[in-house]
Amino acid sequence: MNQADSAYLINLLRNAGYQETEQLEEAQVIIFNTCSVRQHAEERLFQHLKALSPLKVKKNPIIGLVGCVPALYREKLFGQFPFIDFLAGPESLAEVPLLISRSKEGVKSAVFVSQGTTHFAYHQALKGNLCAFLPIICGCNNFCSYCVVPYVREKEKSRPAEQILAEANEMIRQGIREITLLGQNVNSYRDGEIDFPLILKKVAALPGLLRLGFLTSHPKDISLQLFRVMADSKKIYRHLHLPLQSGSDKILLLMNRRYTINHYLKIIEEARRFIPSLTITSDIIVGFPGETESDFEETLNLIKKVEFDDLFAFKYSDRPKTAAEKLEPKISPQVKEQRLAKLWEVQDAISLRLNQAMVGKESEVLLLSKSYKNPGYLIGKTEKEKKVLVEGPPELVGRLVPVRITSADRQLLYGKPV
Ligand code: 5AD
Ligand code: SF4
Repeated sequence: MNQADSAYLINLLRNAGYQETEQLEEAQVIIFNTCSVRQHAEERLFQHLKALSPLKVKKNPIIGLVGCVPALYREKLFGQFPFIDFLAGPESLAEVPLLISRSKEGVKSAVFVSQGTTHFAYHQALKGNLCAFLPIICGCNNFCSYCVVPYVREKEKSRPAEQILAEANEMIRQGIREITLLGQNVNSYRDGEIDFPLILKKVAALPGLLRLGFLTSHPKDISLQLFRVMADSKKIYRHLHLPLQSGSDKILLLMNRRYTINHYLKIIEEARRFIPSLTITSDIIVGFPGETESDFEETLNLIKKVEFDDLFAFKYSDRPKTAAEKLEPKISPQVKEQRLAKLWEVQDAISLRLNQAMVGKESEVLLLSKSYKNPGYLIGKTEKEKKVLVEGPPELVGRLVPVRITSADRQLLYGKPV
């Protein structure tokens, strides 16, 4: 979502006459699009900001902070970092050109009111790119107890289907070949009679689009109809990202996730029944308050049982305003570190094995770009949305090509066009 917002902002500023620069020293305006989902992201932001202080004194660029961190801390940030010129929440990005103009006049300003994100065009298909994110539902009402998102973004709001289809068409016209539909919880999308499986089906049917993905699904809202639509369209990636968070029912309850392990496993079973070749990935939090060794063992067991293709795994961090911030007992940083390391030991072995099982097989790969690290090679994605390095000429970029997988490691598949 953060990347989609950045792309939107880049387009907005280009249209307002601004140009990008790779040289920080040259920039007249510096904007940080921030994420507050974990403490680590915030700490890195504050380090970057502190490092800018000498440049502000020397060259006096306008410095703006946009996104979820300003939405969380608001005007307090002006006190903490006096050289910041403007603040804007994630729903107020359309105001950024105005905020820059005001900063030029020496006025510090902050905007957090909703600009109706659901109604401004994203059109963030950046020139030369083959892939674009397309937000279909913004905000979140779920209040998972560890999560700050419902406090920094709006209430859940679906964008009109007509607008989504028009934007998708425009992206395709501009050369986009892969679209990822985005939302904190895409499964609760609804515009009148149109639910998530139906909007997915409609976007998949657009001529010129080669691949379609979606992020993120919530286990409590997913429907079998989704798997039917996926099974029926060859354009939709055979990939489901389904955050589990924990393998312990006790922890899931404390997290306010509103599903049980049994329910989660049933979804996976159904999904694999409809789409046997499905890639499944997930999010896991280790060290949630009250997580015992045996709760963590349950998570490891579930990881082994499901055999995820890959995971995004995080150490729990307290976030302001959330219910879990007040939950005890907290888990020590050392224990969180140990659990995360143990989790990766288990997952790395599974990912490697699943990747190696692809060797010798043929895949239909969408080639997305040249590989800058490996001259003579291209980067693509298989129909299961796995990254693959393919030997081949740059003319193949933008095309679907049958590829034989010749080798694999933990992170990547390697292949040759057939
Ligand atoms: N601590 C650690 N991880 C978190 N996530 C969200 N909030 C927290 C937190 N406070 C993770 C969840 C979510 C992903 C986007 O970030 O796993 O699915
Ligand atoms: Fe956060 Fe839960 Fe909403 Fe995802 S569904 S954004 S984890 S509150």
